[in-house]
Amino acid sequence: MRFQRILNYNSVESTQQIAKEIDRSAPTVITARVQTGGRGRSGRHWFSPEGGLWITFMIPYENRTHLVHYVTMIGSLSVIQIIEPIGVNGSLCWPNDVQIGGRKVAGILGEYHRKAIICGIGINANIYHFPSWVGPATSLALEMDQVFDLEVLKEDLIRTFESVFDRFEEADGRVIIKLLRPYFVAGSDFVTIDYGQKRIRGVFQDIDEEGALVLRTETDQLIKVYSGEMRRVTWS
Ligand code: BTN
Repeated sequence: MRFQRILNYNSVESTQQIAKEIDRSAPTVITARVQTGGRGRSGRHWFSPEGGLWITFMIPYENRTHLVHYVTMIGSLSVIQIIEPIGVNGSLCWPNDVQIGGRKVAGILGEYHRKAIICGIGINANIYHFPSWVGPATSLALEMDQVFDLEVLKEDLIRTFESVFDRFEEADGRVIIKLLRPYFVAGSDFVTIDYGQKRIRGVFQDIDEEGALVLRTETDQLIKVYSGEMRRVTWS
């Protein structure tokens, strides 16, 4: 798969929203220097000032089986693959926060909308201050003490996303998970998972070959969780 259209904007509400609205004629990349209403997972706002890489990939795709889950993982693997050569030791907090030392450096939002895969990626590249509502966050510039060329980073991410996506299509999603598994953190931590109105507590065991989180619950059962918000907790 090759992206045939690249739409670069100066300021938009959200590249994710544009991807949902545009025609489905060709795989398209949408970027913006600034987002005034950047979107995160679970309806949260995504801090998107100048200095970050705000990008959404739209790929027309008919068959949605099991897809969204993998789309997110394709995005995560692409981010890990571009930051590793820079010398950044990124890890993944399930399902898809890319972190450095427990601070979030990138987020991925995988969706399926009007017969297209929509994968939004936000990378805190050259950002030096985060408002408190963002939570523990960092940037490539803060970690590496250098300013990153956003054009180079963007080109790199586009090419990497294309090749990870090709790999996904040639084999299946499990290949992506296999490549990602070494980067997941939180083994044996106590965690809570929130999904919808429900909360599960347990001990993080593993990520299985489908990307599900394997949890040992308070009643000593092993269960699999496919989506949700994970938080590490300290239990008394
Ligand atoms: C998360 O909550 O971790 C996911 C954040 C995804 C942010 C990116 S930035 C580009 C694209 N446009 C948006 O409005 N959101 C995604």
